[in-house]
Amino acid sequence: MQVGTSLYGMVGPMGIPTHITEAKKVVCVGGGLGVAPVFPQARGYKEAGAYVIGVLGFRSKDLVFWEDKIPLRLRRTDPVHQRRLGRDEGFCHRRHQGCARRHADIDEVVAIGPPVMMKACADATRAAKIKTMVSVNPIMVDGTGMCGGCRVKVGDKVKFACVDGPDFDGHLVDFDDLMVRLSRYTKVEKEAHERWSESCRMTKQVGAAALDALGARHAQAELLELPDPFEDAPGG
Ligand code: FES
Repeated sequence: MQVGTSLYGMVGPMGIPTHITEAKKVVCVGGGLGVAPVFPQARGYKEAGAYVIGVLGFRSKDLVFWEDKIPLRLRRTDPVHQRRLGRDEGFCHRRHQGCARRHADIDEVVAIGPPVMMKACADATRAAKIKTMVSVNPIMVDGTGMCGGCRVKVGDKVKFACVDGPDFDGHLVDFDDLMVRLSRYTKVEKEAHERWSESCRMTKQVGAAALDALGARHAQAELLELPDPFEDAPGG
């Protein structure tokens, strides 16, 4: 999305809000885009008085985002340790294991990122029975619990991530099934993306001339002047 593009509609929020527990020491693991949703959770736990350890990983330096926001914000909310910039999601898992060795009193782990990373985190905490919450992001269609597209096997139950999740007990999620389901449409997604790249009208709407035509130049300027949404967040 860029300034000037438009959406037909938007629905939300969906699912069950994240529950910030009374855990005293929490490890928040974010991989890739998972860094974005794990950030408010880390902040929530910090505000609740927990000792928060952040483990953040990106596949490559080019994919790092919020570099300005996260180090400053998290340092300000010490004690928070950060480990950024891994070569792959395995980085998160290794760092997470390192934390577990140094901190024997971890109460809870929150892991958000690629399924393979969340699976590794859940496996690492299983033997020690450390509560590990993951946030799954299966393919969604209607987002209202009717189509079943987002179903996830959790223990002996089938859950719909859009209404029952997205947070689940990582020790119960069937990650192998989740990964199979996520890859089921890879071929048609690739074909659709290629078609989109060739013919999507949105890509032609966001040039300067198009913004003028839409009267959106002004809106763009206003958007740039909006305050940082995390600026005034307590502890944020
Ligand atoms: Fe359809 Fe969840 S997206 S049931």
